[in-house]
Amino acid sequence: MDLEPIRFAGAPTPMQRCDDLAEAIGLERGQLYFKRDDLTAIAGGGNKARKLEYLCADAIGSGATTLVTGGAAQSNHVRMTAVAAAMTGLGCVAVLRGDPSGAPQGNLVLDNIAGAELVFTGDAYSDDLDDVIVDTAAATDGGYAIPLGGSTPVGCLGYVEAADEIDDQGPADSLVVHATGSGGTHAGLVAGFGDHARVTAVDVGAVREITPKVANLASQTAVLAGRRVPVGSPNVIEGFVGDGYGAKTDATRTAISLALRHAGVVLDPVYSGKAFGGLVHLAGEGRLGSDRPIVFVATGGSPVLFTERYATWVGKR
Ligand SMILES: Cc1ncc(COP(=O)(O)O)c(C=O)c1O
Repeated sequence: MDLEPIRFAGAPTPMQRCDDLAEAIGLERGQLYFKRDDLTAIAGGGNKARKLEYLCADAIGSGATTLVTGGAAQSNHVRMTAVAAAMTGLGCVAVLRGDPSGAPQGNLVLDNIAGAELVFTGDAYSDDLDDVIVDTAAATDGGYAIPLGGSTPVGCLGYVEAADEIDDQGPADSLVVHATGSGGTHAGLVAGFGDHARVTAVDVGAVREITPKVANLASQTAVLAGRRVPVGSPNVIEGFVGDGYGAKTDATRTAISLALRHAGVVLDPVYSGKAFGGLVHLAGEGRLGSDRPIVFVATGGSPVLFTERYATWVGKR
């Protein structure tokens, strides 16, 4: 595809070797690395910057003037889209679940500073948010619809590049582990590697039926990128969501504490903390072996830690 991304993600992000953390969770020293996509260069960092480099370019190339997207009230994707829009001269409309009661917290503070127009749906969970985004974009002058999480084949091209970056930085033939929400990070990585076996994603419960979505999206992305269609099928680990998307689990809290104390890395309570909790569990059961290198993708999301919902809970012993 002939689409020149608009560069603002600051890639390559660091690949951090985490020996003390590896030891603390029962892996060998030299076996665990963090790919620091929490350190992408805009809006406080996070995985969505890579997708937005392509999505903003596509929007501008197609003559659009306003990005229209949506998500949870505390969506990291919306925060980063709002900032990417402002930086590239586009407007931003975001459809958010819930209602705007109380003082803005976490990501909403940055959505407001970036100047996004926020439209609240009033209900806590809506399965049809993608439809609302499409309808809102159609009703917006120059609107460009970005579905939940920016997980279109165009957005996923950002993670095809990330896969190449991971292999360039090494270690060789790593198993890449990360949180999957809308599936785009997973699909892009797999499309880049050409092999589902290179990636294990921990589901955080953001959407239903994530596995078939990732399979389709990975194939479409590979075709768009001019890569081979990936072999195998998606590896998605279930069982770490708790009572639902964003639920507080002990494994998540422990994982956040371990990553901060042993590697200095800030994980979040909804995505990366949950996924690292899954990784800690697999390591404890000996299911990650002792010789295959593991690259955990830290995907950002730290503003959510400081919201009323999580701030007290996350620091409890
Ligand atoms: C911090 C964080 N990590 C991981 C993800 C999951 O990425 P994807 O939606 O591409 O599966 C998200 C998605 O919003 C996120 O905000």
